[in-house]
Amino acid sequence: MIVRDLKRLALLAGPFLLLFLLSVSLWQSQNDDLRSRVGALFDNHGLPTNPSASTSPRAPRLTPDKTHYQVFSQSTPDGEFFDIRFDEDALNPNIIPHPKFNNTWYIVAQLPPKHERGSLEINVEEVGCVAQFIKGALMCIDPAQPLPYEPTPGGNCQGDIDFFNLNIGPRDARVFFGPQNIWTVFASNSAFTCFGQFIQDFRALVDWYPKWMAKASDADFSVGTEIERPFPHAPMEKDYFIFWDKDDAMHVHYDMFPQRGYAKLKPDGKTGPELASETAERDAKCLRHYLPELVDNGFESIRQATNSLRVTLCERVDSTCEPRDDNTYIMTVVHHKTDLAFRSEYEPYVVLFQQRAPYELYAVSRRPLWISGRTPRGDGLPTDAVSITSANWRDRGRNYHGFLDDVIMLGFQYGERHSAGIDVRAGDLLVDLGLCKDAS
Ligand SMILES: *[C@@H]1O[C@H](CO)[C@@H](O)[C@H](O)[C@H]1NC(C)=O
Repeated sequence: MIVRDLKRLALLAGPFLLLFLLSVSLWQSQNDDLRSRVGALFDNHGLPTNPSASTSPRAPRLTPDKTHYQVFSQSTPDGEFFDIRFDEDALNPNIIPHPKFNNTWYIVAQLPPKHERGSLEINVEEVGCVAQFIKGALMCIDPAQPLPYEPTPGGNCQGDIDFFNLNIGPRDARVFFGPQNIWTVFASNSAFTCFGQFIQDFRALVDWYPKWMAKASDADFSVGTEIERPFPHAPMEKDYFIFWDKDDAMHVHYDMFPQRGYAKLKPDGKTGPELASETAERDAKCLRHYLPELVDNGFESIRQATNSLRVTLCERVDSTCEPRDDNTYIMTVVHHKTDLAFRSEYEPYVVLFQQRAPYELYAVSRRPLWISGRTPRGDGLPTDAVSITSANWRDRGRNYHGFLDDVIMLGFQYGERHSAGIDVRAGDLLVDLGLCKDAS
């Protein structure tokens, strides 16, 4: 018994030791530029970089045309976003802190769809790697590996989307922390409709996660499991996110607009009754009040964009700051999406809602956020599209819950092919919120 445990320990510790040695050698071999970069992150680690945010040069600022609030990175020299580098183009990035090492993350993204020669099948692959900041970019420090998501049977795509039956592999994966460990939600061929949303314990897909670090209370999902939302099902179910309530019970939020939809998630992927009806009317009013009015031409929509986080609206450094029901909310990001001729534009808004039943909305951004470094609009030139896919606490150990002075890593797709990220104080993302109680 003891021998077996020791063996297991050695198996677990081995890769970390290797990684550690690799990091140390990397550290020593890099030039001063790198050292000061990573050093900057070390200094900030866990400490609020500046408690009086409003006086900081990196506090959010209204853009000159007053349409957006610009938010700044806490660690890059110029406050702008940083690149995420895999060995090749990658889309829809996710950034999670490595559970064992400071200043180290695990990044996951989707490779562009590939057609094998002579085949109609569309292969989509998610890849992941351990990453650190090197010369200003978040880069793989070991080769990116394909993640072993299992393809799912389908064949339920009909009419003008029947070509989706030829899809192989997951797409649009989100990777995020829950209260205890890491999860992934992804799209794949559905048993109920054309495309569905699946959930899996992300630890089942990687070999570096120390499984003993997790408590056993979360639901299982050790294999990819389709989430079966209450009826009706759309042909393409998209963009679900999971949230945990104040008792850490798992829920799935499948719609935000025009009508919210969410329900308790059961361990077999089925859902409890729709919970959104009770506050639907009030919530819809709040969203319509603060989000832009959609032009009714079929090209504009409000879409769920990221996973969720729990945030307490006071600062960790403040000794009187205690999480309570009236200061702690679930946070997510939605996009106002506009489809243009050859591309789409996305404007991100933050949404907060209650962490206890009936989970009604609390607040919504009055203006969209402008990620510092995004090319400004002007002179008819198109704005670079920024599409946010993930939000996780930057530093390890926070898991699901943080405070205003904790830093969030946003992962986003930049343009058609690039992955990028920015680390912003949670309080900065919550700039200029409109409260639902004031929306009438
Ligand atoms: C990692 O960061 C934490 C929080 O700042 C700190 O207490 C700890 O000493 C760091 N660990 C190492 C190995 O630097």
